[in-house]
Amino acid sequence: MDFKGQHILSVSQFDRPAVEKIIAVADQMRPYAAREKLSQLLSGAILGNMFFEPSTRTRVSFGCAFNKLGGHVRETVGIENSALAKGESLKDTAMVISGYSDVIVMRHPLEGSVAEFAKTSRVPVINAGDGTNEHPSQALLDLYTMSKELERFGSTVDGVHIAMVGDLQYGRTVHSLSKLLNLFNNVKFSFISPSQLAMPADIIKQLKDNGQEVIETDHLESGLKDVDIVYQTRIQEERFPSKEQADAFRGAFRINRFSYSQFCKPSAVVMHPLPRDSREDANELDTDLDQHPNLAIFRQADNGVLVRMALFALIFGLENKLAETETECSWRSL
Ligand code: NCD
Repeated sequence: MDFKGQHILSVSQFDRPAVEKIIAVADQMRPYAAREKLSQLLSGAILGNMFFEPSTRTRVSFGCAFNKLGGHVRETVGIENSALAKGESLKDTAMVISGYSDVIVMRHPLEGSVAEFAKTSRVPVINAGDGTNEHPSQALLDLYTMSKELERFGSTVDGVHIAMVGDLQYGRTVHSLSKLLNLFNNVKFSFISPSQLAMPADIIKQLKDNGQEVIETDHLESGLKDVDIVYQTRIQEERFPSKEQADAFRGAFRINRFSYSQFCKPSAVVMHPLPRDSREDANELDTDLDQHPNLAIFRQADNGVLVRMALFALIFGLENKLAETETECSWRSL
């Protein structure tokens, strides 16, 4: 796959070499992300960072990734602060913002909205989450994290056993990650959720058609048995028809020191796309695991910058120009 000038809308557009390329370029980004060197790769370029739904790490890490490659970031945050609140169509917004920017990152509450926007955009668009549908850059950073974490135990993504836990119906990260993992061999999926929040049937079918082993259960203890990766998720309350309906599932499957030590093997790695819901009645991932070496959630969030830097470099077709555009970092004192 040639990334140059391409939109990144769904993980379905990747094949395995494309994913491996992103991982390799992300690795090259480490010294620039760590500010050991400065990069001017995207000097003068402008990112239009458009977030029409709440976001902390996705928005900031896309912005930091662009800044760390020498580019500038312009942001729109919240539908209520944008012309969409005045009735402007996505098409008109796309015409306008793509005239101001060299690449656009967009998050929007409606499934398919980012793809719709991209049809009119005159510059590449990256989907930073469209409703319950997809979140491709998150899946890439999850995969990157999995491969690094598994490496510590001498294993690989091929042959991995992953449990995805919680709200598998509305969670877009698990949709994208499942499809992305389907590019790998002999992946075993344990989907642990209340039956009302199960992984969509079309995704289960794609996995099974490809010969992957899939277990669906509403039983945390048996579901976590022998897994290499526990991927916990938040109940996506903003996507439920009513808050009461979401409340019914709050706190249903908790990963904490007790459940981890009782049900998981000692090398199991715990991941979560974040944010975790730390309110008492939810608390799907307790802070009592924060000091555990296998809790990868903050390494996972850090990896978001590397992977997003890689995506930008590839979209601009400049991944081979990193060394020639680097400069010394005069202010880094560490
Ligand atoms: C996720 C999202 O927005 O889908 N967050 C993120 O981007 N890291 C998960 C969530 O909100 O629960």
